[in-house]
Amino acid sequence: MSFRLQPPVPARPNRCQLFGPASNPALFEKMAASAADVVNIDLEDSVAPSDKDSARANAIAAINDIDWGRKTLSVRINGLDTGWWYRDVVDLLEKAGERLDQIMIPKAGCAADIYAVDALVTSVEKAMGRKKPLAFEVIIESAAGISHVEEIAAASPRLQAMSLGAADFAASMGMATTGIGGTQENYYMLHQGQSYWPDPRHWTMAAIVAACRTHGVLPVDGPFGDFSDDEGFRAQARRAATLGMVGKWAIHPRQIALANEVFTPSAEALAEAREILAAMEAAKARGEGATTYKGRLVDIASIKQAEGIVKQADMIGAQ
Ligand code: COA
Ligand code: MG
Repeated sequence: MSFRLQPPVPARPNRCQLFGPASNPALFEKMAASAADVVNIDLEDSVAPSDKDSARANAIAAINDIDWGRKTLSVRINGLDTGWWYRDVVDLLEKAGERLDQIMIPKAGCAADIYAVDALVTSVEKAMGRKKPLAFEVIIESAAGISHVEEIAAASPRLQAMSLGAADFAASMGMATTGIGGTQENYYMLHQGQSYWPDPRHWTMAAIVAACRTHGVLPVDGPFGDFSDDEGFRAQARRAATLGMVGKWAIHPRQIALANEVFTPSAEALAEAREILAAMEAAKARGEGATTYKGRLVDIASIKQAEGIVKQADMIGAQ
């Protein structure tokens, strides 16, 4: 075992990140009034090239004028392969106030991408005398991004969250699908004539969670495109939560309650976690490191699992 302790992830709720294009300011008040923990105003792929400048101005006005309550307020900037991203960063830092918590860097491919944005942000922050350091979140959505996921997770102390972007990822990997998340018809196991459909993104999610947990970053599942399919969203979100992710994007308001439901520990899970902790306390008093709870083994590792659930519930309840 490493003597280095695993760093904690930032202690803020991140069950749902609600997106809206900065070219559609009619959505901003609705986003602010929503039950999402994080709001992402998008300057990137939901904004047409001809609207980039006006969308940036809309985002800045919204950051300054709208009451965003206690939400984490984030803007997705344009990718490093465009001519827009430096202007996004400079204008956001020069013209929007300190209410802006975070920027999202899309299509992160290697640690140097994050370093480049960090250098620019650090310089403008110094020039402006900004007091609260701007946080970063990144999207892993390319073959390069998943190949370098661990160095990206370690790339900057500003980094708080990392999302899996299903659509760009599938395109970059050459995957034979146009779906955004969910199971895929042709990715199936066949056993004695019975088919079932595992998740082709399973390994990607697990790699992101491992990189994030190693470096104290929140792992988040990205979009689920079919917003009329509540059960499909729920199933995807439950798979992500089971693998250690803390939240999921919403690209339509009806997905917010679903994400909050899945990523909030249920009353039953919380009660069970508390009972396991009590059982382990009693075992400790008897000088034992392991005991039985409902007919199954619980030991010192179970304390960490149960504490994780209780801590998450306390943090969400405390907001
Ligand atoms: N945030 C807040 N409110 C939203 C919203 C969003 N992202 N998307 C839709 N709404 C509102 C609508 O304004 C409408 O409000 P109303 O009842 O007051 O009229 C209500 O929710 C129902 O919307 P609906 O008619 O079902 O959807 P739409 O056709 O207006 O919009 C999309 C559909 C997909 C275009 C829109 O949801 C959207 O822009 N989503 C975000 C896309 C994005 O940001 N992508 C980048 C990340 S992948
Ligand atoms: Mg993308």
